[in-house]
Amino acid sequence: MNNQAIGLIDSGYGGLSLAKELKRLLPLETLLYFGDNARAPYGNQELSQVEVMIHQLADFLIEEGVKAIVVACNTGTVAALDSLVKRWDIPILGVIDGGVEAAVQTTQNKKMGLIATRGTIESQVYPQKIKALDPDIIIYEKACPHLVDLVESGQLSGVKVDSLVASQLEPIKQAGVDSLILGCTHFPLLSQPIQKYMGSAVSLVDPGVNTIQELANQLKDLDLLAEERQGEDLYYTSGDPLAFARLASQWLALEDVQVSEINIGGA
Ligand code: DGL
Repeated sequence: MNNQAIGLIDSGYGGLSLAKELKRLLPLETLLYFGDNARAPYGNQELSQVEVMIHQLADFLIEEGVKAIVVACNTGTVAALDSLVKRWDIPILGVIDGGVEAAVQTTQNKKMGLIATRGTIESQVYPQKIKALDPDIIIYEKACPHLVDLVESGQLSGVKVDSLVASQLEPIKQAGVDSLILGCTHFPLLSQPIQKYMGSAVSLVDPGVNTIQELANQLKDLDLLAEERQGEDLYYTSGDPLAFARLASQWLALEDVQVSEINIGGA
């Protein structure tokens, strides 16, 4: 048993998709979240730079005493998961393995879409891992940085969102996929407009869901699950705390979200 908090890190609002799942599955756990909104998006930056930034966020939360960290960012997972795991002796999870596993189990026609940041797409980590499990799967992939920008500007629905979703996803829809990996943690915040555009026959795969389940399994195995909440969840942002509180309370359906502004890496 361990009542210390769990740390979630992302370039900005994307990790809130995992925060929601964490609060659903593990309601007794306390959450410390770090959204590096001031330096988002990460997906267009060099992976070596993303690695440095992810380590800065993790260092901060480890200093705050978290018992485990989820890198709630696909780009961050590609860039920094291996070096974080080598560096620290607490459970540290990324989002990609959970996404790969869920995606392979979901597709029936073996035509799969993948949307992610440029960094994640260029790394080719998803196709490599998926094809290692099932070489017959064909993956139609597309970098969609504009969808990250939408979420970072607080727009989760409306006419502009619908039309941008349609223009970004059109080639993947045309390819006849039966499943679509939301390979950037910002995208589950747009799952309603994405599902509406792709149609109900296409299954959306949110890697965060399996990731939080895996976190729960690891904490249980290590006897680190909380027995009671340690205090309030706390959300740190390097960006605008009011904008963060607005979007987080809307997405998490909470009246009050405690947000603290923080300067990181000289940002
Ligand atoms: N949410 C992140 C991801 O899953 C990064 C988005 C961005 O900052 O570009 O890749």
